[in-house]
Amino acid sequence: MAVTEIEAVRLSPHVGAELRGVDLTRPLDAATAEALNALWLEHLVLVFRGQSLAQEDLLRATGIFGTLAPLARPKDEYPKGYAKLLPNIMLISNIREDGVPIGALPDGEMMFHHDMLHAEVPHKGTLLYAVEVPSRGGNTLFANGYAAYDTLPADIREPLEGRIARHHYHYGSTLKGDGRGTKASAASRHPVFRTHDETGRKAVYVNRLMTEEVEGMERAESDRLLAALYDHAEKPEFVYEHVWRVGDLLLWDNRCSMHARTDFPGGERRLMWRTTLEGEARPR
Ligand code: OGA
Ligand code: MN
Repeated sequence: MAVTEIEAVRLSPHVGAELRGVDLTRPLDAATAEALNALWLEHLVLVFRGQSLAQEDLLRATGIFGTLAPLARPKDEYPKGYAKLLPNIMLISNIREDGVPIGALPDGEMMFHHDMLHAEVPHKGTLLYAVEVPSRGGNTLFANGYAAYDTLPADIREPLEGRIARHHYHYGSTLKGDGRGTKASAASRHPVFRTHDETGRKAVYVNRLMTEEVEGMERAESDRLLAALYDHAEKPEFVYEHVWRVGDLLLWDNRCSMHARTDFPGGERRLMWRTTLEGEARPR
């Protein structure tokens, strides 16, 4: 395909574009790859519908946008479904074999979060490809962190400007506190507002799932400001809600957006393949 054949259709006022005319089972030329990267920076979330990808295609598509990240945990810690995958593709699934989920993040609702915020250099982007979807729910919500920052009332923004926040994540947890007591967890510190390495714009870089507190502030004040910030950043006006179909590939930017998932029926199968892109710089 040529660059000129790609059509970008905006999916909401602030975030998301569906790209039409792209077949990710074929290698792309350099000009097309460059055009897709520019569209990604502009829209934060790219949606490619009707793809029928092999695992190799997902890995090649990942490479268009950066460097494939290794899985955060050793493969032998994962349930057995992972063994059927090419290296560094993760399953997100509620399907169970012998009662054990074959993938990560199996069930239901997830709070808003940035992937790998608990790492020192978080993965810059995530790709998620739908193999099986439930009849309803399991939608993924994306919130534009630039728009939230740009419209933040001064009484919330000013006391947080230039501050560092601490984050904590219990692997696999999807709601605050639900992973306490699990053996694997990690912590990090990053700016409350992150300057995007490529666009130079500031975005909200804390979230309801992982952020513990703002440093150098009374805990009650930190709790109050963070709660007000989350309420603002999660407003529907900054959000695109994606209703999945089999064959959808989504790509999102963890440097300037956060995402959440709605509940879905536990008795229905949901299966996604996931890759992530290495972070290129320590957040600043
Ligand atoms: C993820 C994630 C959301 C979903 O894979 O990081 O948040 O809809 N997934 O499964
Ligand atoms: Mn996620």
